[in-house]
Amino acid sequence: MAIARALLESLMIAAPRCDRADAWKILKTLFETSAARFDLREAFAVDARRFDSLTFEAAGVFADLSKNLIDQRVMAALADLARECRIEQRRDAMLAGAAINATENRAVLHVALRAPRESALHGEEVHEVLERMLAFAERVRDTRASGIRHIVNIGIGGSDLGPQMVVPALDAYCQRDLALHFVSNVDGHDIDSALRGLKPVETLFVIASKTFTTQETMSNARIARDWFVANGGTDTRRHFVAATTNIKAAAEFGIDTTFGFWDWVGGRYSLWSAIGLPIALAVGAQNFRELLGGAQAMDRHFRESPIERNLPIQLGLLDVWYRNFHGFTSRSIAPYHQGLRRLPAYLQQLEMESNGKRVDIDGQLLPFATSPVIWGEAGTNGQHAYFQMLHQGSDVIPVEFILERDPAHVHADAHRKLLANGLAQAQALMLGRSAAEAIGDTVPTASPLMDPEVLARHRTFPGNRPSSTFLIDRLTPAALGALIAMYEHRVFVSGALWNINSFDQWGVELGKMLCNDLLPRFDSGDTAGLDGSTAGLLQRLRH
Ligand code: F6P
Repeated sequence: MAIARALLESLMIAAPRCDRADAWKILKTLFETSAARFDLREAFAVDARRFDSLTFEAAGVFADLSKNLIDQRVMAALADLARECRIEQRRDAMLAGAAINATENRAVLHVALRAPRESALHGEEVHEVLERMLAFAERVRDTRASGIRHIVNIGIGGSDLGPQMVVPALDAYCQRDLALHFVSNVDGHDIDSALRGLKPVETLFVIASKTFTTQETMSNARIARDWFVANGGTDTRRHFVAATTNIKAAAEFGIDTTFGFWDWVGGRYSLWSAIGLPIALAVGAQNFRELLGGAQAMDRHFRESPIERNLPIQLGLLDVWYRNFHGFTSRSIAPYHQGLRRLPAYLQQLEMESNGKRVDIDGQLLPFATSPVIWGEAGTNGQHAYFQMLHQGSDVIPVEFILERDPAHVHADAHRKLLANGLAQAQALMLGRSAAEAIGDTVPTASPLMDPEVLARHRTFPGNRPSSTFLIDRLTPAALGALIAMYEHRVFVSGALWNINSFDQWGVELGKMLCNDLLPRFDSGDTAGLDGSTAGLLQRLRH
């Protein structure tokens, strides 16, 4: 730890913020003189090797970055930026356990959760909980003996989104006689619909909360306990377990089966810890280990690959290029896999809670933009909703396609259609369609009253819209683990370049504080000191 601290201190002095690096100035000149007018179609026409030179492979993830607004000159300057900002040293400081989450004086060691016992920091404690948790999961999965048929995970944010994303993604590996339900919202509709039709004797509740104080989770946990007793449940100690760092609070709630984790695991980085219990319950110990193994393989790639071939570093650099030079404000996630339908929501927390900051580590206001808005939907559904805007809207929004080669189902024809759709969308974004091309089209639905040239303008696609495509052979636990770890490290890289603390989340505090102030006013009706709008709304809501 002393080494980690020394490493961090020397870094703080030596690593410049990205906009103060020499490479930043070079990138700025490059952008202004040529890169702003970069054209993907031309780039492919002049460089037959573009696909080969801009594709990457890491831990079973094949990444095609060739449809991005980059060329070798931009890539070289971005790599210089990473070097100048000491990305590798910052990464090593994180992996060595330095307290890089400075505002909370905490290490950031989610990587230790998926490392072998002997090689990781905290290996003993991590593996003690892991073994206990996996053994517990296997006992519950023996449904004839346990009698459990329903798992209700109660948690929110990082204590919900990871398992809620992973369980459907690994549907092919899930035990069929064990149903998983996720309750996160303090809105009573959420828990009501989850509990409908359940029987206490068949239900196991997992109360997942790093702090065990989160309003939503504690409120739902109490409702669940009341429901359990009111419906004839007798043994709450057998039917309620907890995943938390706050063992004392869990015990006070009446839970004695608790799986702990540590303050060096950030909520949005916690699915590898005890927070992953619903995943282990759904897919079993072996598959959970493989999920960890895939993430570990990506960790190794991140730690060992040179900047030029390091996929998470390249992605983080691309994010900076798009956000700070091209000025793109959002990025859309399009997993062409129904099982990954919650991935956009998961990545929203991962990226936006991590990098949605406007001051640097020293508290200085940043003169540049940080986290883009992350959003998306599973393909092909998104195509029939918002892809119109991606193709013809006034904003350029980089898109990320995720495709699986070998599905877990037998509908080969449907799968080909899915893949063809994904590839076609990326192609359409890049190639576009000129007015000259559009004017020749026969379009049965077009108005015969409209001037063909005007109509062609409506049917023109500007093209040159960037996308990345990630391919995996099959969405196995290992492949999914690698994919998630890739995103985690990418967020670290862009955050480090921006010199922000990607591991705190002070921005959620003010709302919580004001909510606590408002709550008693619903009973008392007291509006003293409130702004006119909030006072007016509160009064209407009380009637
Ligand atoms: O909303 C902020 C937050 O602290 C997230 O970072 C976290 O994942 C979530 O709340 C849940 O917190 P806890 O696991 O402590 O209940």
